[in-house]
Amino acid sequence: MSSIFAPVSTPAASIHELSLLVIGICAAIFTVVGGLLAYTIVRFRRRDADPHEPPQVYGSYPIELAWTVVPLMIVFVLILATTRTIGQLQKTTAPPHALQVTVVGHQWWWEFRYPSLGITTANELHVPVSTSTNPRPTFLTLESDDVVHSFWVPRLAGKTDVIPNWVNHMWIEPWETGTYLGQCAEFCGVQHAHMLIRVVVQSAADFDRWAAAQEQPAAVDPRVEAGRRLFLSTACVNCHTIDGTPAQGTFGPDLTHLMSRHTLGAGTVTNTAANLYQWVRDPQQIKPGCRMPAMQLSDDEVNEIVAYLLTLK
Ligand code: CUA
Repeated sequence: MSSIFAPVSTPAASIHELSLLVIGICAAIFTVVGGLLAYTIVRFRRRDADPHEPPQVYGSYPIELAWTVVPLMIVFVLILATTRTIGQLQKTTAPPHALQVTVVGHQWWWEFRYPSLGITTANELHVPVSTSTNPRPTFLTLESDDVVHSFWVPRLAGKTDVIPNWVNHMWIEPWETGTYLGQCAEFCGVQHAHMLIRVVVQSAADFDRWAAAQEQPAAVDPRVEAGRRLFLSTACVNCHTIDGTPAQGTFGPDLTHLMSRHTLGAGTVTNTAANLYQWVRDPQQIKPGCRMPAMQLSDDEVNEIVAYLLTLK
């Protein structure tokens, strides 16, 4: 579920509060206008018994004044409330204990870099939970590698556009552990719909464990040496990084800890051995139009590469 009405993070809660005020005011206006309209339709409907036109009234200074001034005051209240919320969210600066993450939008996946930890991952953003005794907000720096995307995880914060040659900022402060779903919210090409975001909010200890594992170089398992060598001899290395190997491409997701992620293709399918096989054999079958081509490998070669990838925990 990813509803703005179930906030679990400070910015989302401020937006939720504001939305209730706006919805409340709009509901009141709807009730008054709709009620008057319904009353008028019923009360002044045409009756067979009465052939006369009703009395025609032109102009009323007090009524015109009222329907000009009252809406102006309502709009003014909405402007004040909205500006205050936006201002509060935007003027918040990162405290020293905040986690800093750089988010890079790509067609059609998300890159997450943790500069202070030396971690790069994709599509699944891990952050620590924020508690009153241990506040741990996460501040995001948003960049795009190609076109305009938009980063939106409704339960955590409002959406922020991700724009080429421009840096945007936003922050989240989740207070409940769990996995929260988000979605690219700006049409960015053929696979825009498959540009999902997963934010995994963990306890401080779980987050530290995850970070420590991600900081490790890629696993080396002699049983899949053939697949490893095959991977490093194909064009895979031009686009993907596997830390500790000559594969240092940055066009596609970092695969160093591929199997620590739950999905493939930015949330398109779950990350199982069978799906990984299909993906390596021909990603266009799973995500048509995605930037990764079918590598024209034989079934045996795909099996060997997948066997290697499966060890990248
Ligand atoms: Cu990226 Cu839509």
